[in-house]
Amino acid sequence: MSKRKLIIAGNWKMNKTPAEASAFIKALKPLVKGSKNEIVCAVPFVDIQTSITAARGSRIKIAAQNMHFEEKGAFTGEISGQMLKEMGVKYVIIGHSERREYFGETNRSVNKKVAAAFKCGLKPIICVGESLAQRDAGLTADHVRYQVKAAFVDIPAEQAKKAVIAYEPIWAIGTGRTATTEQAEEVCRLIRMTVKELYSKRVSSVIRIQYGGSVKADNAHELFSMEDIDGGLVGGASLKLDDFATISAG
Ligand code: 13P
Repeated sequence: MSKRKLIIAGNWKMNKTPAEASAFIKALKPLVKGSKNEIVCAVPFVDIQTSITAARGSRIKIAAQNMHFEEKGAFTGEISGQMLKEMGVKYVIIGHSERREYFGETNRSVNKKVAAAFKCGLKPIICVGESLAQRDAGLTADHVRYQVKAAFVDIPAEQAKKAVIAYEPIWAIGTGRTATTEQAEEVCRLIRMTVKELYSKRVSSVIRIQYGGSVKADNAHELFSMEDIDGGLVGGASLKLDDFATISAG
């Protein structure tokens, strides 16, 4: 079977104003015109409108970086999936390690958000990954498997196969210390096996698994060539036009 369609997503985190987002996406459009990959920019909430307008007529899709699991109500400061969907958002990052670490995101809230995202027609990019202490203690496999299983509780197969899972070892995020291709492939393969156990061989063979953590223009394509790595979730390098265009090429 040929490999799955690669999905390259830039996670801008808390960077770029609406005007900067618009200018960036307009400049990115011609640079990625020839790519066959799926290209996504996960922008701050307030940049969504200008980003979607700027991306019109291109293959660039816009994602959000978080959402709330409730449909609506008294949740000051939160954004619902329906709000994002109506704006034209296609993907939503869920459970990024920065949200788990700084904003109290748990496996339980990740699971509720995954369910809520599917309910309103958004595709989740579910982030998992171990800390350095967990890796050093030999807990990577247990930890990542648990995160994957917890994220998919009560999610039916027909939805699960549309999810993207991003393996992001915390020790590789923003540190310039990329996992080796072998380390990244090993865990991405483990994630695929876990999906197979949870669902079926069919679901595990179509679900896309990204690697994230110091993906750069000079290491991206080797990582993406691995059997179980179907693209990347890119932080710092996604803010630089030429770098992100190079990473997205293919
Ligand atoms: P960096 O690419 O800056 O290491 O960030 C990775 C990340 O957290 C993407 O979600």
